[in-house]
Amino acid sequence: MSDTVQKNLNYKKYVIDSRLQYFKPHSTKIEKSFAEDISSSLIDDSKFINPKYFYDKKGSELFEKICTLPEYYPTRTEISILKNLQDELPNYIDHTFRLVELGSGASIKTRLLLDIFTSIQKKIEYFPIDISEILTESSELLLKDYDNLHITGIIDTYEGGLEFLKTYDDKKNLIIFLGSSFGNFTPKDGHRFLQKIHSTMKSDDLFLIGLDLVKDKEILESAYDDSQGITAKFNLNVLSRINDELDADFDLDNFSHHAVYNDKDQRIEMYLQSLVNQSVIISKSNLTLHLEKDELIHTEYSHKYRLTQIQDFLTKTGFKIKHTWLDDKKHFSLTLVSKN
Ligand code: AVJ
Repeated sequence: MSDTVQKNLNYKKYVIDSRLQYFKPHSTKIEKSFAEDISSSLIDDSKFINPKYFYDKKGSELFEKICTLPEYYPTRTEISILKNLQDELPNYIDHTFRLVELGSGASIKTRLLLDIFTSIQKKIEYFPIDISEILTESSELLLKDYDNLHITGIIDTYEGGLEFLKTYDDKKNLIIFLGSSFGNFTPKDGHRFLQKIHSTMKSDDLFLIGLDLVKDKEILESAYDDSQGITAKFNLNVLSRINDELDADFDLDNFSHHAVYNDKDQRIEMYLQSLVNQSVIISKSNLTLHLEKDELIHTEYSHKYRLTQIQDFLTKTGFKIKHTWLDDKKHFSLTLVSKN
């Protein structure tokens, strides 16, 4: 193991016990602070809050709740496809693979993949990559249920984590990126992200990506504006987070949740709409925000894809498509690719 450490001087290794360890960079690349990021994205005429800020403790809980809503079809649909993979994925992976997940989960989805690995391997290795230390908590939960499981968490950006893996050892990786999280990217940023994944993969690695598909506008819009108002709470919660962490005075009653499907750009767009003319002080960002009645703050894009587009952008990045799995209604897709 000391060899590994030698090769990865930029990371500190923490061994928790014989089945759990994690790596954390000594210093992360200087990322903009929350305060700076918010001030620069709210200062312009077109106001924006990056969706990555949804996920504080409360926001993560609300997202988990969204995943169980009757209107929110992506989670249960992706799970149904993963269940069908139990028979087919072993055609592509063998005992020499480890499971690598971008974004960590103790969720049912990770478990379904671990079940597949268990069916073909005696000892399974799982490497969650996540910027948040939450991965240590979710790892403990998985270890309780899988006694053949060994976890190495990488607390870093996805790119940083994959770069780390490239020089870590020769073991093959099945990298998974589920839930259509990719849909948050603009096409341009998405392309860059795929290039980054492609360039950090070793020649025998595989990549499995879950992507949401274009469908009826009504189905899409109700998935992002549910009847119980959970998605609205999730969207508005980002303002509470700014209040708490950046000493701001957003009055949540002065905003409403707004989600529309943009046909042309094939995406759900989420906004917070100001219900009145108002000024909001965000102390730690040194900003006084002026909002007019009806003005929108953009909070999220969730892109939807056509199968031909998925094949197109994966192939253009240099990936070779192995297989695409769909549900009966063709609402969601899982695509497995190799590097070449
Ligand atoms: C986590 C980005 C995949 O876009 O469907 C759910 C986030 N936003 N409801 C999505 C989300 C509102 C979700 N992703």
